Order: sequence, then C-alpha cells, then structure tokens
Amino acid sequence: MKFLKILLLFVFVQVSAQQGGMWIPSLLKGMNETEMKNLGMKISADDIYAVNHSSLKDAVPHFDGGCTAEVISDKGLILTNHHCGFDNIQSHSTLEHDYLTDGFWAYKMEDELPNKDLFVTFIVRIEDVTAKVLEGVSGLTAEADKQKKIQENISILNKSLPKESWQENSIRTFYDGNQYILFVTETYRDVRLVGAPPSSIGKFGSDTDNWVWPRHTGDFSLFRIYADKNNKPAAYSKDNVPYKPKHFFPISVKGLKENDFTMVMGYPGRTQEYLPSVAVNQIITDLNPAKIEVRDAALKVQDGFMRKDNAIKIQYASKYASVANYWKKWIGETKGLKKSNAVAVKQQFEKDFQQKVIAAGKQAEYGNLLSDFEKNYAEIREYALARDLFTEIALRNTEILTLGYKLYQLEQLYNTKGEQSFNDRRNNLINGLGDFYKDFSPAVDQKVFEQLFAIYLKKYPKQFLPSSLENSDASALASEIFSTSQLVSYDKIKELLTGDSKTVLEKINKDSGFKVIKAMADGYLKSVAPKYDEINLRNIATQRTYMKAILELSPKSARIFPDANSTLRVTYGKIKGYKPSDAVVYEPFTYLDGVMEKYIPGDYEFDVPKKLIDLYNAKDYGIYGSKGKMPVAFIATNHTTGGNSGSPALDANGHLIGLNFDRVWEGTMSDIYYSPDICRNIMVDIRYVLFIVDKFAGADNLIKEMKIIAPKKKN
Ligand code: ARG
Ligand code: ASP
Repeated sequence: MKFLKILLLFVFVQVSAQQGGMWIPSLLKGMNETEMKNLGMKISADDIYAVNHSSLKDAVPHFDGGCTAEVISDKGLILTNHHCGFDNIQSHSTLEHDYLTDGFWAYKMEDELPNKDLFVTFIVRIEDVTAKVLEGVSGLTAEADKQKKIQENISILNKSLPKESWQENSIRTFYDGNQYILFVTETYRDVRLVGAPPSSIGKFGSDTDNWVWPRHTGDFSLFRIYADKNNKPAAYSKDNVPYKPKHFFPISVKGLKENDFTMVMGYPGRTQEYLPSVAVNQIITDLNPAKIEVRDAALKVQDGFMRKDNAIKIQYASKYASVANYWKKWIGETKGLKKSNAVAVKQQFEKDFQQKVIAAGKQAEYGNLLSDFEKNYAEIREYALARDLFTEIALRNTEILTLGYKLYQLEQLYNTKGEQSFNDRRNNLINGLGDFYKDFSPAVDQKVFEQLFAIYLKKYPKQFLPSSLENSDASALASEIFSTSQLVSYDKIKELLTGDSKTVLEKINKDSGFKVIKAMADGYLKSVAPKYDEINLRNIATQRTYMKAILELSPKSARIFPDANSTLRVTYGKIKGYKPSDAVVYEPFTYLDGVMEKYIPGDYEFDVPKKLIDLYNAKDYGIYGSKGKMPVAFIATNHTTGGNSGSPALDANGHLIGLNFDRVWEGTMSDIYYSPDICRNIMVDIRYVLFIVDKFAGADNLIKEMKIIAPKKKN
C-alpha cells in the first residue's frame, strides 16, 4: 500500500513536472491524448484535429500573421486580443471618433468596419512531407548546398502538392530540420471590426502591468470574417456575406477553479528549448544584457520627453510600448533563467546525453556535438554581440539611423539593380515617410542618438568599430547631425531625394547623418555579417544533428515537442497559482475589485470608465458574476509564447473559457526553458469579455449570436 502510494506520488510528480510543450494537433493521438485525459480532458484527440469531419482546429485561425483568433458564432464572429486588433482599431480612429479611447461597437452588421490589409488563415489539413522535402539531400555534403536543395524542393512541392484553387500550401520545418510538415490553408481577406472596449479596459494597466500578474486587463476585440456567396475567400466587397465556419466554440460561463484542466490552441511564434547550455549562458551573460542596456537608455530618454510634453506622448506612445514590451520580457527572462539554474539544468542534461551516446555506441556520429557547440559559440560570441548591438542601436532604436539605413539600402539597390529599381524604391520611400515624420521628434531622437551612440562606441567589439567613427564624441556628433543632416525633416529629405539617381546619391553621400549610418553598416556588413553567417550555418547544422540525436536516444515516453514556428499548436495544463519569491504566493484568479484597487482617476494607464464603476457599485454582473464578484483574468500552466495572443483557452469539454494574452514576468524564460513551477500564461476570463459586451456595451446583438453555456439555476 505504502509502495503504491509512493509509486502514485512518483507518477504524479512525473506528470506535473513534465507539463509544458507545444504540440502538433495532428499528432496528439499518439503523443498526448492519454496524458491530456489524465489531466482531466473529456474530449478526444479526434475532436481537436480531424480531416474528415469538423474539429476544434477549424475554429482557430491565425490572425493577421502574428496573433491567434477563435470563431465564436455561426456567422463568422471572431475574438482576439485588443492588442492584436490595436492597429486596426487605431486606423479607424479620428478626433471625432476616437475608438481607442472610447471603444467601438457595431450594433448592426452594416456598421462593421472593413480593414484594408487584415487577413485570417485557417488550417485545412496537416501532412508529413519529410521524405519528399529531403529527396536528393543526403548525397550532398556542404551545408549551404543542402539548404539550397531543400529550399528548391519546398518551392516545387508547394506548387505541385494537391490543393483547391483558393487554398495555399505551406511547408514548414520542425525539430530543426528533422521533420517537414505541409499545411494546407485558406486565407480570408474581408475581416471587419465589430467591437472593441475602450483602452481603459482593453489596455488597462498598459506598460506598468505588461508581463505582470496579478493582471486586470480586458484584452479583447471582436471582428467578423466575410466570404463570397459560396463561403470561399474573397477580397472585400459589400456583397460578401458572413462566413459560415466548420466549427465555432460554445462559451462556458459555468465557472472555473484551481486545478481545472485547460488547453490553449494557437500559433506560437518562436521558442529555443533545445539550445545547448553554452548558448543559454551567452544569452544570459552577453546578449540579453546588451539589448536591455540599449533599450533601457532609449526608453529613459523617450519617457522623459513624454512626461513633459503631451504632443510627444502621442507621437511616441505606440513606439514606446513596442520597444518596452521585449525590453521588459528580456529582463524577466534573464532573471528567470538565472533563478531556475537553467544553465546547470542544461549541463546535467548534456552529461546524461553524452552517456546515452556512449551507451548506444554512437560516438562517431554524435560524440562531438557538444564540443562543437562549445567551439562555435565561443567563436560566434563577439560577432553575435556586434550583430545585436548593430541591430538594436542602428536598425531599431535610433530613428534617424533606421531611416538612414533605408537610404543605404536604396544605394545598394542602385548598385545591384540599376536606375529603374532605384526610382521605384525612392518613390515608395517618399510616400511612406509621411507617417514616419508625423511621429518623429528630432529633439527626442537627438538625445537617443547621443545615448545609444555612446553605447556603440563603448560596447561594440573594438576590432569591428569603423575607423572613421572610433574617435568620435557621441554628443558632439549628435549636435552636428541634428543641426546639419537633411534626414531630420520630411521637407528636407524630400529635397534630398529629388533628382536623378546620380545626383541623389551624390547628395546623400554628403549628408552628415547618412555618413554615420553608412560607416556603421559598411563595417557591419564587411567585418561582422559574413563571419557570423558562416559560424551560424555551422551551428544550424550542429543543432539539427543534436536534435536528431535527442529524438533518437530518448526513451519513447519522453515528451519532446518541436520548437514553436508560427504553426498551429496545442498546449495544455491546469489552472494554478504560483510562488514567485520567498513568502509571496499568487492566486490564480483576479476580480473587478482589483481593477478598482488599481484605479487612478485620469491616469493614462489606470483610469476606469465611469460606466464600469457604476456596474461595479451596483454589482450588476448578470450571469457572468461568481459569488457576488466579477472574475477578470486567470493563469494556468499552459506553455505559450508570442503569437499565442488571442488564443482560445478551452476547458475539458473544448468550450471557450478565456482568451490568452500574456505570461507572468517570472516565467518569460519559457521560450528557452519551461519550468512548471513558475511559468504561467495569462488569460482574460471569458465571463469578463461577455460582461463587457453585454452589460458595459449593451451589444446584445452579439451575445445573441453566441452559444453560451450557463450553469443550471439552483432554486
Ligand atoms: N506582453 C504581451 C505580448 O507580448 C502584451 C503586449 C501588448 N501590451 C503592451 N502593454 N505593450 O504581446
Ligand atoms: N503577449 C504575447 C503575444 O502577443 C503572448 C506572450 O508572449 O505570452 O503573443
């Protein structure tokens, strides 16, 4: 009996320790179904993914190539995050109709707003095509030749594999090139805005609360997919009709509790779970700190200006938020990797791996992988650092340099493709730059330049610093550029770009701002990029063989999932709180009471709309409340990453219970090392979404479309 208990305990620890992973929906049956059922799931793998009948996957489109959405009515209504719909909500906003500030609700279908470039993509079918992709590759020896052959095969197969005329084939690599999978997809391009709460709900807490638990953000927006008369994809037309989905999610408002099974389906972008310890160490000690330092400096400058000047705040709010998002993530990631001893965990894994290689008699094939990694990562260190610094300083955070780089590319284009290409690009550039200058403040960027260029001079590996720049003074150079360069205003740059190619190139080469970015870029492309690419190619090959070996030498029971690659995945776990640090315990649910606790009247991050305060005071929560309180958000052990925003959170029956939108700060390392102790995804509770749509916005037209499963009334 005691033995059995210990055994059970052991099995339990194994299961919970093993959670995490982003799984391929078509392979759940063999790999995950049993574990999912043990965790509480009541539906089958076949209900999640099937080709011959409708299944959950038919209700989960990729949203605009970067987020996830889910279908929630038989009239093509979809739900995604407010931050995923943000650009579209913004694009319809004017001073008279400020939908970002006030929210937007279509009370009739005629009022729904078309969006020019927005699209959603459904998966029709998933198929393994590894053998076809690798045909003729094994005979080649050079890595570059292998890659070329693979790319050729993929482009031929994408065209030749069977599909309907309105569909697309897309072949993607899994397990670092050890498996290739075909996705047959359908893309709908008439997607209209249906509803969005005011930012004081949809973006409540903004940057201060970003990546943070406890969270109180109603991060959702609603759209509708339109199709032609045959329910097929079609460009926008007023004659299009609401899309009839193969499946849509029933919504459960029955309530949630800790340890309930949850599952998240969506399109996670990128993870690196199988990096060797040397690579993780490099991220912790060299690369993340460098990137954080650059962004830290840029954000401090912008914040200083934004606090003093309202016009600058409007110009920089969105740029600031996007730079701050990964700045904050990298800080959390670095801390988490250190705290969880990720490097030591990986080293132990590598020790065991090496022993398995010996036990299997595979030294010849796999014996040198780890030492190869060590050599490669030591060799690439300075190049990788230079690459990250160049990218962050010149291409991402100093606006005048980022802009200058576009002119640099224009010059390159002229050198390789000639006059016609030059003219086309120049005209495009001029047209596109209006938007850039609308939100550009030379005063802000001069200070950013000064700070970031100083980091460049100090931190960029000395051997790669262009000689024309190495003795410059950041602050003197900043004043020179911002008083003489034509890049600082729209009128001046238009003048700079006027004339035939020869004249324009002569003029830009005399410009003080252009000279700096040209020296930086030339130096980078000559002394860093080629060597970086060469070592990186070796690393890619080593990583592929390492992954192959891990798959081959691990026991059948080991759960080895492929890294995220923006394809549809399923992850599952349980609703659970966590303990971020000594003496601190976080509960898994937040409530509207917490919104009111954070409320700062008039604040741009923590203001609360009056109507919501009234509903709170009246406790007018309808069927959405629970024990007199209004649930807002919850966390669980689902393994998610960027791209999972907007993903449906489902219960054991496959009913919608929430909408994924973030992760907890202490667990953002999950892209590199997932620890079930500390990694949690954050979801907005579907009851909060419905409460806002119904009680706050009064949009019962939308509520009526949905299939809502409410608890049975007790009399
Ligand atoms: N951290 C979340 C994600 O990576 C939300 C980002 C949007 N919100 C913000 N305050 N920037 O996308
Ligand atoms: N907020 C992220 C997204 O937009 C999700 C995450 O990184 O957890 O996809």
